[in-house]
Amino acid sequence: MTAATAPVHTELLSRIEQCQARVGVIGLGYVGLPLAHALHQGGLPVIGFDIDPGKPKAIKAGKNYLQHLGDSMVTDLRDSKRFEATTDFGRLGECDVIIVAVPTPLGRHHEPDIGFILSTAESIGKTLRKGQLIILESTTYPGTTRDDMMPAIFKAAGENGKGLKLGVDVFGAFSPEREDPGRKSHNTRTIPKLCGGLDAASTELACAVYRKGIAEVVPVSTAEVAEAAKILENTFRAVNIALVNELKAILEPMKIDVWEVIRAAATKPFGYMPFFPGPGLGGHCIPIDPFYLTWKAREHGVFTRFIELAGEINTNMPHYVVDRVAEHLNNHGKAVKNSKVLVLGLAYKADIDDVRESPSFELIELLMHRGAKVEYSDPHCAETKTVRSHDLRMKSVPVTAESLKQFDLVLVSTAHSAFDWDMIAKHSKLIVDTRDAMRRHHGELGNRLKLA
Ligand SMILES: NC(=O)c1ccc[n+]([C@@H]2O[C@H](COP(=O)([O-])OP(=O)(O)OC[C@H]3O[C@@H](n4cnc5c(N)ncnc54)[C@H](O)[C@@H]3O)[C@@H](O)[C@H]2O)c1
Repeated sequence: MTAATAPVHTELLSRIEQCQARVGVIGLGYVGLPLAHALHQGGLPVIGFDIDPGKPKAIKAGKNYLQHLGDSMVTDLRDSKRFEATTDFGRLGECDVIIVAVPTPLGRHHEPDIGFILSTAESIGKTLRKGQLIILESTTYPGTTRDDMMPAIFKAAGENGKGLKLGVDVFGAFSPEREDPGRKSHNTRTIPKLCGGLDAASTELACAVYRKGIAEVVPVSTAEVAEAAKILENTFRAVNIALVNELKAILEPMKIDVWEVIRAAATKPFGYMPFFPGPGLGGHCIPIDPFYLTWKAREHGVFTRFIELAGEINTNMPHYVVDRVAEHLNNHGKAVKNSKVLVLGLAYKADIDDVRESPSFELIELLMHRGAKVEYSDPHCAETKTVRSHDLRMKSVPVTAESLKQFDLVLVSTAHSAFDWDMIAKHSKLIVDTRDAMRRHHGELGNRLKLA
């Protein structure tokens, strides 16, 4: 019997197509919450699972805990009879389709940490039954779905899993998330969804699920192709950002404006895509994902010199910026030590509140290390949270014409649109701008502005 005619597969496909299949989304964060919403809006009944009781509680209370998604996402779910959120992983057995969207961070030595995927796999295994499709969405190295997640599920299933055959009774797939929080032009529903199964039957089922909530679903031949495609996308960004960061350092002594150069090059209608320099990489993906590939490549005896060079350049950017701060202060007769510096923006990019891997933390620490007295301001982040390698315990300070006068230098790290750039240009003594946020003030700022 072929997979396509196997009764379990046929029945599950029909349940998905008729919106009778129940979907469990594990991890209700930046990826899982909008995905649960998109599939729910497509007509499927959804249960959201999270180990953090705060997430189901917030949804039940209609409280939006991810600002950039807007309030209606949470209230739509709260008000629906087809959605529930829970911390009770015993209910995973009720789900025909289980989608895993848990974090994939780095360990202490920059090695992949798939511990969240494995602990989730254990929970799934405990209630594994015939007729379930498990899809991994967390970004990871190629092979994780087949070689790590599915074996962990079967191991946890123990006796229950005995006799269940992959591709016949139970199905598995990988579908990468390509969410870009804060981007207005695209959302979960409009970003094409890659989908690769562990076998043809799994690909067909996973594609059917996503077609319910996502405009374009793109099947690929294997889960490994889908896993590698996601890593390629993020490595491509990391490498190109490193290239323009290097270009910035090359053009600066030549007194050529790197932003103008990039915008000029971007007028070419083919063969070029603009990337912009900054104070360093941030977010949960771009600084982390290339390391997943590097680690996996080593297992196969392959070294990733190009990717590692990009990592080196990007990691060095906060040091480069702090050197520019020191130079600018020095040119105005001041030392870094005891200078008062205001860092504008804590989030890793404009108009969101996500601080994961944000270079602002590194900038603040490096400046403090050189003896500067540092404060930060961010309308989206009232206080610093403890993040992977920083525990700053600071609170955002207001930016006013009066408060700006206290600072010897303002360092622009994140160009939030909520900042009043006119006022900042007018009242700051010195500015180091890593984002080209002060462009329309270049002339009037004279020698008070330094681009970094
Ligand atoms: N944030 C993005 O823009 C983005 C984009 C593309 C891909 N990704 C990838 O998606 C995955 C999830 O990232 P995110 O940004 O949504 O993370 P997140 O931290 O916002 O959300 C993860 C959620 O999972 C929960 N969680 C952790 N361990 C769990 C477990 N064992 N069981 C159940 N829930 C658990 C957390 O409480 C949290 O609510 C990562 O692999 C990430 O690389 C993220």
